[in-house]
Amino acid sequence: MYRSHNCGELNATHINTEVTLSGWVQKSRDKGFIVWVDLRDRYGVTQLVFDEERTSKEMMERAQKLGREFVIQVKGKVIERASKNPNMPTGEIEILVSELTILNKAIVPPFTIEDETDGGEDLRMKYRYLDIRRNPVKNNLIFRSKVSMEVRNFLSNNGFIEVETPYLIKSTPEGARDFVVPSRMNEGEFYALPQSPQTFKQLLMVGGMDKYFQIVKCFRDEDLRADRQPEFTQIDCEMAFVEQEDILNIFENLTRHLLKEINGVEVDKFPRMLFDDAMRLYGNDKPDIRFGMEFGELNDIAQHKDFGVFNNAELVVGIAVPGGNAYTRKEIDKLIDWVKRPQVGALGMVYSRCNDDGSFKSSVDKFYDQEDLAKWAERTGAKPGDLVCVLSGPTNKVRAQLSALRMELAERLGLRKPNEFAPLWVIDFPLLELDEETGHYHAMHHPFTSPKPGQLELLDTDPGAVKANAYDLVLNGNEIGGGSIRIHDKETQATMFKHLGFTPEEAKEQFGFLMDAFQYGAPPHGGLAFGLDRLVSILGGQETIRDFIAFPKNNSGRDVMIDAPAPIDDEQLKELSLQVNINN
Ligand code: AMO
Repeated sequence: MYRSHNCGELNATHINTEVTLSGWVQKSRDKGFIVWVDLRDRYGVTQLVFDEERTSKEMMERAQKLGREFVIQVKGKVIERASKNPNMPTGEIEILVSELTILNKAIVPPFTIEDETDGGEDLRMKYRYLDIRRNPVKNNLIFRSKVSMEVRNFLSNNGFIEVETPYLIKSTPEGARDFVVPSRMNEGEFYALPQSPQTFKQLLMVGGMDKYFQIVKCFRDEDLRADRQPEFTQIDCEMAFVEQEDILNIFENLTRHLLKEINGVEVDKFPRMLFDDAMRLYGNDKPDIRFGMEFGELNDIAQHKDFGVFNNAELVVGIAVPGGNAYTRKEIDKLIDWVKRPQVGALGMVYSRCNDDGSFKSSVDKFYDQEDLAKWAERTGAKPGDLVCVLSGPTNKVRAQLSALRMELAERLGLRKPNEFAPLWVIDFPLLELDEETGHYHAMHHPFTSPKPGQLELLDTDPGAVKANAYDLVLNGNEIGGGSIRIHDKETQATMFKHLGFTPEEAKEQFGFLMDAFQYGAPPHGGLAFGLDRLVSILGGQETIRDFIAFPKNNSGRDVMIDAPAPIDDEQLKELSLQVNINN
């Protein structure tokens, strides 16, 4: 038996008990006549003591040779500690060791296995298995497991069946590039790894499965960010015989359940916001509504006043920065530099200080009088002591820029509190999105999303105006999930493909299996998928999903621990009928 107890559970009630513990040497202090060792495992740390008087010479010598991260087993008696540590669950006791076995030695780790480590990100990723021994990473993985468990409990209790769908499939266009896998048995042909199980879950509905879920890996070859990994996990769900309202209700309840069970937070309000309103008020389809700073559009009050920049702009829009009048000129200049960074891309920023006496002082006083500036303040909700920041330009661009500024300022002002949760649904997304580079429309969500009733005809005349039965769940400014009511008849699906620029042959070639299935009695259906990594990290009060993934990829999509991706040898290439790399 390696252990009778773990390293986190012993306390004063165990005094005088004989125990066996196994774990890693966190650190040891050798005073010559006495040696203390902190023994660590997943559950905590327990102090071991060896002393000249009570420990055999052999054990004493063995203890003195222990290095960091040695794996050891000890037998001994739980005794009361002389100097107690009230900050540790095991802080009242220590183990007087009678027997020490070294189970495995360890070389010196490349960074300290402490909560605050000296190891940089790259080093920790290379030795991720050591990083996982550290509390912050370990606790995140335990947290993730708890969230997954609660998701499974909730969905199972609500009648959902977990069904696995294949990983070796044919590519489905969902916006990103596919990772492809060559087939040895089918020369020159490739599987694609799923970007999501979208078509399979729809086929499960045709198969009568009714309420499906799956906690499933998805793969997307896209540019990475803090909230994106090339392989990530979805809580993927689909239901038959449902309307949008049924789906929103179920998943609102799932989110409530998680916030309650995991965070102990009761959320009753679950606002629904139209996509158009989200864009108008926050410049963003995933607004963080934990704080105000809503946009105020100023075209009617700021144009036609001889200020050419505003007169020529499609949109003039501002926000009020709470307490922003306290900023010095220098600080405001820095803010202007910030919005002019290429990542944000604004050409400049106009501001108006709201003085405590109710007067205003703006950067464009030449063009605007006090009455004008009072209107700006009113429109943006600015109070005395605030600062109104105004951007102008093409609508979509300027909204994105002001949204970036809003989030940045909220971060700086401490308004994005990690322990406060403000979920909302954004609904009525456009069905199609114009790709400004190619001039073509593509599906904003995916090609299986149904248009709102009665809007199919609009596709011919004003495709950009067609709204979809599509919704996103947003939590604290992050898109946690998205879904839609699907098309379930062949004709509508064919019309949709036509509008997306597929010829009938292409549509048949790529999605014939789905359209065929629709002819055999496809029920009305819809669903959604939550990003598990994102959900877990937001519930955990953070926004970097990497920290909640056991073995993540870095920003270049590499696993630096196993060194992947990597070349394969010529034999393997030949077997897969791929061109042999002559540089090898
Ligand atoms: P969508 O593409 O919106 O929908 O994805 C659903 C959710 O998955 C998460 N997500 C990601 N998380 C980490 N890294 C990524 N690269 C990544 N990409 C997406 C997001 C997102 O909201 N099949 C549809 C769902 C449906 O219609 O039912 C789909 O995949 O949190």
